Amino acid sequence: MDKIYLLGLPASGKSHTGKWLSHKMGWDFVDLDELIEKNEKKSIPQIFEELGEEGFRKIEQKYLHVTFSYKQCVVSCGGGTPVWDNNMENMSINGLTVYLNTELAEIERRLEESHIERPLLSQDKSLHKQISDLNEKRRPYYSRAKVIWNRNEPTEQFFRSLDRLLSIY
Ligand code: S3P
Repeated sequence: MDKIYLLGLPASGKSHTGKWLSHKMGWDFVDLDELIEKNEKKSIPQIFEELGEEGFRKIEQKYLHVTFSYKQCVVSCGGGTPVWDNNMENMSINGLTVYLNTELAEIERRLEESHIERPLLSQDKSLHKQISDLNEKRRPYYSRAKVIWNRNEPTEQFFRSLDRLLSIY
């Protein structure tokens, strides 16, 4: 197997971990949101505004399928990628799915400091409530990942375990 799909809530560390991991493995790093923005020549919030969430999910799925032909790469997915249609199943067929199960309090802390615009998170509602609701809804999908990492940061052991798993699969 020559691809890793990193899954988890917004700010769970998918991009940070993906860059770190791909560097250690000598693989490419792909950020699904960036791939969409580059090719569609529009920002994620712009796509949400123009097409709504369903329109965004269809585009997201199209670019997820593009990654299936890539070789040796770590893909950082959007927080909602695993929840749409059969994305979870297709990622599992094409790569090793890894769920970053970062603590909700840590996610909340990171989101409070983040300057990235996230269309699904509203400024008017409690961040705590929004994160726990998203978590409730998405956990059943994320939990189908082959690997679940229960720490807030990646470690050397995380890398070694994935490296070993990839050589078996
Ligand atoms: C989304 C998360 C975002 C981005 C889009 C939708 C979500 O990515 O794909 O705004 O549904 O949780 P991050 O998880 O990188 O923030």
